[in-house]
Amino acid sequence: MEGVCVLGAGSTKYGKLADSIADITTQASVAAIKNAGIEPKEVGASYISNVFGVADKQVHIGPVLMSRLGIPDKPSLTIESACGSGSVSFREAYANIAAGFYDCLIATGVEKVTHTGTEWTTTYFAYCSDFFYEGQSGASFPGLFASMARAYLTEFGATEEDFAKVAVKNHDNGALNPKAHMQKRITVDDVMNSAVVASPLKLYDCCPFSDGASSVVLCSEKFAKEHGGDYVKVIGSGRGGSPAALQGRDHMTTIPSTKIASEAAYKMAGVTAKDIDFAEVHDCFTIAEVVDTEDLGFFDKGQGIQAVREERTRLNSDISINPSGGLKSKGHPIGATGIGQVVEMYDQLTGNAGRRSVKDAKLGMTHNFGATGASCAVHIFESA
Ligand SMILES: CC(C)(COP(=O)(O)OP(=O)(O)OC[C@H]1O[C@@H](n2cnc3c(N)ncnc32)[C@H](O)[C@@H]1OP(=O)(O)O)[C@@H](O)C(=O)NCCC(=O)NCCS
Repeated sequence: MEGVCVLGAGSTKYGKLADSIADITTQASVAAIKNAGIEPKEVGASYISNVFGVADKQVHIGPVLMSRLGIPDKPSLTIESACGSGSVSFREAYANIAAGFYDCLIATGVEKVTHTGTEWTTTYFAYCSDFFYEGQSGASFPGLFASMARAYLTEFGATEEDFAKVAVKNHDNGALNPKAHMQKRITVDDVMNSAVVASPLKLYDCCPFSDGASSVVLCSEKFAKEHGGDYVKVIGSGRGGSPAALQGRDHMTTIPSTKIASEAAYKMAGVTAKDIDFAEVHDCFTIAEVVDTEDLGFFDKGQGIQAVREERTRLNSDISINPSGGLKSKGHPIGATGIGQVVEMYDQLTGNAGRRSVKDAKLGMTHNFGATGASCAVHIFESA
């Protein structure tokens, strides 16, 4: 297999954006290509991750992007895997470089939904659940993650204040990220006094609905070396699955796909959880981050919440979790999120993360799943 690298990265700001889905897709892609120091004609193909293009009247975005980049003859493919679309799309791009099909590709993720309003977006997002068992019974994602949170509170003696500390940390990190949707510090009291969305989860336990686009340029190590400039190496890649509906799982406080995907990624990279300096994990709700850090092997089962209490997941502590602000504060434009995490890897490992830099970072991980973890991909990155 060819060694695979990320040669450039670009992103729009996340939040409520006025530009069209086609425009923000193009803006992020142009930024990544420019950052990589290449010409569009050097891009062999594109992978686009997007879930609800229909919301902004543009599906089949790939050829639209390629036309706008001036390379309409180059192929593109749109990939949907709910909130985990970006990581799965990155994996396909990775595999195509590793297999030698292309020397250079772009993977761009995008979502544009905020103009449709909370009711529409909540309903459409629920179509990503196992709709027969969950969505059509009224279980939207806040409700499903609330069930997991309730189980965790009972099983491990955690408190709602403990979950609030995850939100406080991620808002602190997001306040250092100029591209974040929510650049606002909050307190535990703010979280506890915010409106209940699905008990025990409150407004500040939830990620917001966001628009945004992120893009990365992937290439072979040979291409990166010949080209010069900064790059980071992709040293591990894994995917996994879980029963689509929560009722099909043995436990409510673990996500099988995370374990399967991370074990494969660790094995390929030849590293363990202890070697990882920082990770961008899928914190769509505060409970998710706690469960993720256990399933990824950073902490034993039930100990993720103790790590939060002891502030061991803060920026530049034992392991920096979500230095970008995560989905909670940076935002969650669902098709873009997994690619946005790779943008953070590139920025951190090339020394371009500004005030949120993880000191002496050598190894980073991205973890991004779809729905309640029905699909998942994990990647491990190393500074070059
Ligand atoms: C939590 C949620 C219900 C709030 O929606 P809402 O009540 O319609 O909120 P609004 O958009 O009307 O915003 C009201 C205020 O709260 C803020 N806000 C909205 N969502 C927020 C969030 N998740 N965290 C912090 N602040 C938030 C808005 O900025 C706005 O502030 P302002 O009045 O100062 O402008 C919605 O964000 C949500 O469902 N999030 C989860 C999304 C999801 O499920 N994604 C998939 C994950 S698997």
